[in-house]
Amino acid sequence: SDKACMSIDGNTKLLAVVGDPIEHTFSPYIHQILIEATGDNFAYVPFHITKERLLQGIHGAWALGIQGINVTIPHKQLVREALYRIDPEAQLVGAVNTLRWTESGYEGYNTDVTGFRKLLQLNQIPLKDQAVLIIGAGGAARSALTSCLVEGAAKIGVYNRTRERAQDMIDKFVVRAQKYGAYPIPPISSISEEELYKGEYSVVLQTTSVGMYPNVDGIPVDDPHFFDQVCHVADMVFNPESTKFVNMARERGIPAVGGLSMLFYQGAKSYEIWTQRQFSEGELETMHEKFLA
Ligand code: ATR
Repeated sequence: SDKACMSIDGNTKLLAVVGDPIEHTFSPYIHQILIEATGDNFAYVPFHITKERLLQGIHGAWALGIQGINVTIPHKQLVREALYRIDPEAQLVGAVNTLRWTESGYEGYNTDVTGFRKLLQLNQIPLKDQAVLIIGAGGAARSALTSCLVEGAAKIGVYNRTRERAQDMIDKFVVRAQKYGAYPIPPISSISEEELYKGEYSVVLQTTSVGMYPNVDGIPVDDPHFFDQVCHVADMVFNPESTKFVNMARERGIPAVGGLSMLFYQGAKSYEIWTQRQFSEGELETMHEKFLA
């Protein structure tokens, strides 16, 4: 590239990612690619911060003028208490992963939904008019649920180890979706383990941490008959290697994809929010390739 890799000087602005734990984050690699491609004078640094110190940390970061912050596990909900304004789509998701510095305070956004929709689009996994099964009821499941709503899924089932959590997530999501108002709300129900095998769902979105490194032997549904009626699988787990769940689907000839690309695209969207840039499809593709390499 003809844009030199910037070194830190008196004009360098800081970007950050905060989480607990944080040491396995891929975000600095993603943002280094974006910084090098644009030539912007930024440095992107991870910070380990506990729940007890989160709000104080965000206020301190604002005072220091840290321009952009990514927020990761387990702080995407609590961080909302430190914000001056929350973008309506982030309100719908119920979680914030991107903070943008403004004179009045940080504004909160959620770029996970953009990242997830991009992952599905790249892999030709349809949600529109589909019966979609979401496995899990944690933070990642909320982005999947929002993606289904935005894309116009026909019906959504949520299966979770703890069924009450699934029902609770759905109830709260429906209230937020009604308030948001922009999309028709399809039938959304929590389903039992037996119902997994009725073949009602053609697209499966795996959002639990099962199968995540270092516990790569984990699998959220272990009876292979589960896959009988399934046409597409996306697993949000982002190990560089495929999860057992993805491999199991592929062995049955079902196209299945892991979540690594989602990470890149949520990061790129955060960078666009911080810098008010808009990358072209070509630029995104080039940087995405570089990330995967
Ligand atoms: P995240 O924000 O990453 O989604 P989370 O809120 O802790 O994290 O949610 C983790 C999800 O993975 C939950 O759906 C959880 O199921 P429970 O609600 O029953 O806890 C699921 N999960 C984690 N470990 C699991 C395991 N060993 N078997 C099945 N589900 C598991």
